[in-house]
Amino acid sequence: MAAREQFGSRLGFILAAAGSAVGIGNMVGFPVAATKNGGGAFLLLYALFVVLICLPVMLAEMSVGRHSRKDPLNAYTHLTNNEPHWRVAGWLSIITPFMIAVFYLVITVWIFGYLFQSIMGNLDQLADPATFGAFIQSSDLFIYMVAVLAVVYLILQGGVKQGIEKAAKVMMPALFFMLIGLVIFVLTLDNAFAGVEYYLVPDFSKITASVVSAALSQAFFSLSLGMGIMITYGSYLDSKSDVPGSAKFVALADTGVAFIAGLLILPAIFSFNPDTNTAELSDSSVGMIFTFLPKIFLALQASIGYLGASIVASLFFLLVFFAAITSLVSIFEVPVSAFMESKKVSRKKALGLMGALLVVTSVIASMSFGIWDPVTSFVTYADQSKSLFDVIVDVFYDTILPLNGLLICLFVIYRWKKDNFNAELDEGAPNYKGSFFEKYVDFSVGTFIPVILLLIFINTVALKYF
Ligand code: PHE
Repeated sequence: MAAREQFGSRLGFILAAAGSAVGIGNMVGFPVAATKNGGGAFLLLYALFVVLICLPVMLAEMSVGRHSRKDPLNAYTHLTNNEPHWRVAGWLSIITPFMIAVFYLVITVWIFGYLFQSIMGNLDQLADPATFGAFIQSSDLFIYMVAVLAVVYLILQGGVKQGIEKAAKVMMPALFFMLIGLVIFVLTLDNAFAGVEYYLVPDFSKITASVVSAALSQAFFSLSLGMGIMITYGSYLDSKSDVPGSAKFVALADTGVAFIAGLLILPAIFSFNPDTNTAELSDSSVGMIFTFLPKIFLALQASIGYLGASIVASLFFLLVFFAAITSLVSIFEVPVSAFMESKKVSRKKALGLMGALLVVTSVIASMSFGIWDPVTSFVTYADQSKSLFDVIVDVFYDTILPLNGLLICLFVIYRWKKDNFNAELDEGAPNYKGSFFEKYVDFSVGTFIPVILLLIFINTVALKYF
């Protein structure tokens, strides 16, 4: 049997995992959520959740991956001698990333479309409020989808080291420089600092139970947890790598980029309209990227000209596109790797078959916005008519993610056992052994973290579907 593929270097692994974590959620989701929910207070809560809850879950995932050297499905079955209920957990961690890949691909295709139009200089068209609604119903989407999938395919067919790692090594630094460049530019605009103030001054009165839960979900999703990704990427590490050390970097990079993205978005909004108040900010990330920001890009023409504004818009969409691609690659690698392992087929074959399945599902899902009635009005629950796209988001993003997090916690502590978990993390990380952090991780993963994830799961089920 061919040896399992591996990342070539520690930096490569960190960049690939950070590439997965840094996505649309950081660029737009976080700034929008922070602005609506108390600014600095939300940020504080978010950072607390990253450290206290998400980092231990990330370690649970990575350790299972590295120990088993397998994708999540085969990891669960291999480590339990095929116990049926853990097989279910394994299947969930394959189906979840596949379905989230569908929803994420649809949005990445929109981003690509806006990138393309910005490069073509069509800012006035993008800024027209009617454009987005028409765009998501147009057949152009399918052309853009082919382009996005070609990029994902090209990266993944190169494998772990020559594909995923190489792409991350190019895209992540590029993303960072574009982000910093854009922040510097935006901060020179009139009134930008009013946005910084609005973003950062904490308003603790906004912190309610639902804001707390929103901050946790945002952090969990942003770190790519519950999707089998960190298990899969962990499985490409050798026993010499320092897993806890690398995980800390990934968490830091992810939180850092989310924070810096806020320094781009909020000042841009305030320089565009100094009297902005929360009510005026569009309440969804989708509204923010596709209708609000294009208006700002168009308005920039007055000060920096047509070409300048087009460049700024193109850089912004390229930035979000890079963030989205490295996430999409990581999530799609999970079913591809499971298929390669289970059926003993080549990467090319697994990619081809899974890719075909992804195309069919995504094409159908992207007709949820009025292109095709049966998927536009797919089902009704809780008295609301839902499209197929809504259902995928509700079921997989909102409901199953915390469930998968709960299962991996229970698995490492109560089935695989704490001593094995700790021993795996100690390997390659001499400073971790016996540290306070280690004690915290194994205690929290075995106690309150699964309880919190269970409560989120129950609460979501009760609120969403009944
Ligand atoms: N961490 C990603 C983000 O914040 C979420 C994600 C990762 C989505 C991987 C899909 C695949 O956008």
